Amino acid sequence: MHTINSVASPLQLRPKFSLRYDPWTILHRLTRSFVRAYCVFEADLSRPRPAIPHNPDLVVRLFRGIDDLQAAIAALVPAGLSPEDVSARIRQGDLVSVGFLNGTPAGYTWTRFGDVSAKELGLTLHPRTREVIQYDSLVLKCFRRHGLQFAIAAPVLDYLQQNGYATGLAWVDLLNRPSYKNQRRWGKKVIMIILSLKLPGMEQRRNLSLGAPLHCLFTKTGAQK
Ligand SMILES: CC(C)(COP(=O)(O)OP(=O)(O)OC[C@H]1O[C@@H](n2cnc3c(N)ncnc32)[C@H](O)[C@@H]1OP(=O)(O)O)[C@@H](O)C(=O)NCCC(=O)NCCS
Repeated sequence: MHTINSVASPLQLRPKFSLRYDPWTILHRLTRSFVRAYCVFEADLSRPRPAIPHNPDLVVRLFRGIDDLQAAIAALVPAGLSPEDVSARIRQGDLVSVGFLNGTPAGYTWTRFGDVSAKELGLTLHPRTREVIQYDSLVLKCFRRHGLQFAIAAPVLDYLQQNGYATGLAWVDLLNRPSYKNQRRWGKKVIMIILSLKLPGMEQRRNLSLGAPLHCLFTKTGAQK
């Protein structure tokens, strides 16, 4: 287990004003049964990253490997994950980064060193050589809008770079503005946009890609690559 102190701007736990139903959320809810749009972002791990101000209250821990399993479960169950999910992912070799604020788990992000199922698309994402997939990132509601997503992800990027990885992939709903904004802000490149349609009368969801053919990175879940 690796522990990293610091990161993120000095955190004030004053709730920021936010509308529960901002226009993006409303649009998302109205359209998601019929049409979904996802951006596939590629992070070049060799690129310089934006600096993050020091936050003395934040400690980030990385968990990977069976020896870290119990500690990972203890950290992630209070954040809402089930012990079974944590166990299955750790046993698969995944890495998880967890941010603690004054000892309380505030958010996490997972990294897979192999295929990941993108259930919402019915597709499986296959990493290329020296590539990982970043998936399932969450900052607990009361800690959002303080820049924690990046603070929790940054040590992972260092770990990956030190272990010889070149790129990371992530897929993000275009209408998930906080996550989309962060991916752009970190200098990640959109390498594919996926439009996923299930219009009235269509029996199956249909996925179309822009920017690169879908089969460069994805197969239908259950199908061989
Ligand atoms: C996405 C998520 C991890 C971002 O975490 P975070 O630590 O709150 O992110 P940040 O504080 O860096 O905020 C990112 C940006 O989104 C903005 N933002 C946050 N919530 C927002 C909202 N509801 N509507 C619009 N913008 C929002 C922030 O203001 C910030 O932009 P700004 O710096 O221009 O103001 C968090 O919102 C979350 O856990 N969401 C639910 C799970 C999820 O969507 N995970 C990502 C799946 S890919």
